[in-house]
Amino acid sequence: MTINTPSLAHEFYFSEEILALEKKLFQFQDIFLGHSSFVNESQNYFVLPHTKETKVLIDNGEEIQVLQNICKHRYSIMLQGKGHCGKIVCPIHSWSYNLKGKILNQPGIECDQSAHSLERESIDIYDGFLFPKNVSALKNALEAAKTFTNIDFEKLNFFAYERFFVKVNWKSYMDTFLDNYHLEPFHPNFRTFLDSRYIESIFRDDFSVQAIHLREKPQIKTPALKAYLDCYSKYVGKFPEDYGAVWLCIYPNIIIEISQCFVLIAIVLPDSIDTCSIHEYRLVEQQFSQHQDFLTAFEQYMYEIEYEDHDLMNKIHQGRKDLYQQGHKHYGPYHPTKEAGQQQFHDYIRRKISGNFDETTLVSSPREVVRV
Ligand code: FES
Ligand SMILES: [Fe+2]
Repeated sequence: MTINTPSLAHEFYFSEEILALEKKLFQFQDIFLGHSSFVNESQNYFVLPHTKETKVLIDNGEEIQVLQNICKHRYSIMLQGKGHCGKIVCPIHSWSYNLKGKILNQPGIECDQSAHSLERESIDIYDGFLFPKNVSALKNALEAAKTFTNIDFEKLNFFAYERFFVKVNWKSYMDTFLDNYHLEPFHPNFRTFLDSRYIESIFRDDFSVQAIHLREKPQIKTPALKAYLDCYSKYVGKFPEDYGAVWLCIYPNIIIEISQCFVLIAIVLPDSIDTCSIHEYRLVEQQFSQHQDFLTAFEQYMYEIEYEDHDLMNKIHQGRKDLYQQGHKHYGPYHPTKEAGQQQFHDYIRRKISGNFDETTLVSSPREVVRV
C-alpha cells in the first residue's frame, strides 16, 4: 500500500502555463460526439453544444454523421438546437448544403463548389455512442462497464441536456467525481444507500470504470431519493441488488454515470483556471422515456447529489487556492481504494504534462510544508 504518493501539486490547478498546455494537448471537446438517439429519424439534426455548436449530428437518410456546422462563406454557425430539415441553409447569406455537406447553392457567386463542402468528421459508432475514428477510449470504457451492468446502451433515449457553470478548476470537478472517500461522510443519502467499502474498479491508461455496491439494508434519507425509488418500483419493480452505480471516467474530461435505467454523460470543459462548464446529456432506457414522473424524480435525485458535490468542490478549490497563493506545498496522501480512481487520473495528467513541463519544480514530499 502506497500511502505517501503526493496528490497533484497546487500549480496544476492554478498555473496559466499548465492550463495552456492542457488546452493544447487534450481533446477537450471531441472525444464524445453524441448518441444515435439524439437524432432518431431521417433528416433530424442535433447541434452538439459542447463543441460550441461547431458540430452537428445529422441523420442523412442513409446514416448518422457529424458535420461541421460552420458555413464555408464567412464561417457563421448555421443550425441551432435540434430539428428536422431537408437541407442546411446558412442564415447569413443563404448558402445551402445537402445533408451530406455538399454545397448546393451560393447565391450570386461563381465558385468551385467542390472546394466548399462542409467537412465530415471521421467517426466510429459503438452501441449508439459516436466518437472520432481510432480514438478507442470511450468504446473500451463502455465495453468494460458491461462487466458490471447489463444496461443496453443502444436502446437508450435522449431526454434532456443541461449546461451549468462551476467556479472551480476543471480538474477539481473531475477529482470530486473520482473521490469515493467522501461519499459516506459528505452525502447523507449515500451514507445509508451506497457502500463505498465495496468498489470494483477497472483502471486503464485512458479510462477508469468503478462499480459501487448497495448497502445490504439500504435506508432512504431524503425525499428526492425516495421519489426516485418509488418510481423505480412502480415502473420496473424491486431495486436490483447487483450495483448502485457504475461510474466511467474517460480521460481527460468525460464522465459517464450509469444508474439503474439511466445514463448521464458529462463533458467538463475548462473556461479559465477558476471556472469550468459542464455539458450534461441525460439518457434513459427506451421503455421509460414517456414516464415523465420517473424522469423528473431521477433528475431531482441527481440535482441533490450535484448540489452537494458543488459545495464540496468549492470548499476544496478555495482551500487549495489559498495554500497556492501563500506558497504552501503540502500534498496529502490518497486513500488506497476510495481515492484510487483519483490517483489514476492524476497519474494520467502527470504523464501527459511531463515532457512538456518541468514538473520537478512542482512536486515535493507530502509531509513538507514550505512557507514563503
Ligand atoms: S456566412 Fe454563410 S452564407 Fe455568408
Ligand atoms: Fe459526491
